[in-house]
Amino acid sequence: MKVAVVGATGMVGSVMLKVLEERNFPLTELIPVASEKSVGKKIAYNGKEFEVVSLETAVSMKPEVAIFSAGGDTSLEWAPKFASAGTTVIDNSSAWRMNPKHKLVIPEINANLLSKEDRIIANPNCSTIQLLMALKPLHDTYKIKRVVVSTYQSITGTGVKAVQQLENEYAGKKEEMAYPYPIHKNALPHCDVFQDNGYTKEEMKLTNETKKILGDDSVNVTATAIRIPVVGGHSESVNIEFEKDFDVVDVRKILSDFPGITVQDNPELNTYPMPIYAEGKDDVFVGRLRRDLSQPNTLNMWIVADNLRKGAATNAVQIAEYLLEQKLL
Ligand SMILES: NC(=O)c1ccc[n+]([C@@H]2O[C@H](COP(=O)([O-])OP(=O)(O)OC[C@H]3O[C@@H](n4cnc5c(N)ncnc54)[C@H](OP(=O)(O)O)[C@@H]3O)[C@@H](O)[C@H]2O)c1
Repeated sequence: MKVAVVGATGMVGSVMLKVLEERNFPLTELIPVASEKSVGKKIAYNGKEFEVVSLETAVSMKPEVAIFSAGGDTSLEWAPKFASAGTTVIDNSSAWRMNPKHKLVIPEINANLLSKEDRIIANPNCSTIQLLMALKPLHDTYKIKRVVVSTYQSITGTGVKAVQQLENEYAGKKEEMAYPYPIHKNALPHCDVFQDNGYTKEEMKLTNETKKILGDDSVNVTATAIRIPVVGGHSESVNIEFEKDFDVVDVRKILSDFPGITVQDNPELNTYPMPIYAEGKDDVFVGRLRRDLSQPNTLNMWIVADNLRKGAATNAVQIAEYLLEQKLL
């Protein structure tokens, strides 16, 4: 099993290597891929060193799987070339997510849609993955009408350049910036680029990807995405209106029973999810479960997950594991 990791030198790519290693993914050959400037660099994996190669070289090596985390343009251009060479691509960019020909997969929710014919599979956006992990079991039970979500997103979601910006600001250095404003001691109501409708792309991803993953266009999501100077993961304040009424005790049980979710919800002991504890973990953490007192059938919650793990690398590796288990490669 040859596995190419495209974007191996990046923020997501380096976590991808860690997750493949930790989960003992049965690869026989790792093919780390990055831009031309990184070709020849050495990448450590499972006690061995592998040399970074170009995209062209990687395609010619015909890997069984290629996991892409190298931006949308790279995916648009290169994923079809890998697919034509017989490789199954799992793509972390937004390039293929809303394309009706491609599946958008969170394994706990809809891996059953996958077939041998799927050569380019899309990994959802990081903030969508953690939101949907909590929404899915509740939608199945109470049917969601509308979701209002505000995100508090980690700078690691903007890649190595953003982490560098924060470090430079800590050190008082004026260098190239990933954001239009300082991020240290700040909150930017601006994740990804603005669209003509006044929302950012990140906000519209939450709206559109939710409908596609749940396979239900009736679920309405409105989002505000905020970038904050945090590294451990993304947090989300979520208000959900259901068709049916619920009991918070049942909600807690439904969420606890869902694979990949850990409920941390005990106000008496100050127990609630936080990014410093989510960092490096694969689970999605849910807490602050409480009824919205302002209208019927409505719940408030707080969701935290490591955007580089379940929001990106872990979800992609889980897709690869599923394909392998089901003999779909
Ligand atoms: N960060 C997150 O939480 C997150 C979550 C979900 C999805 N994603 C997506 O994952 C992708 C990567 O994000 P990131 O945060 O890891 O960014 P990053 O830290 O900036 O890393 C980008 C990676 O892509 C490589 N790359 C850039 N241009 C390339 C090209 N033309 N050909 C080959 N390789 C190229 C870079 O190689 P060099 O080192 O050689 O430049 C680097 O390995 C993006 O599409 C992003 O939207 C990110």
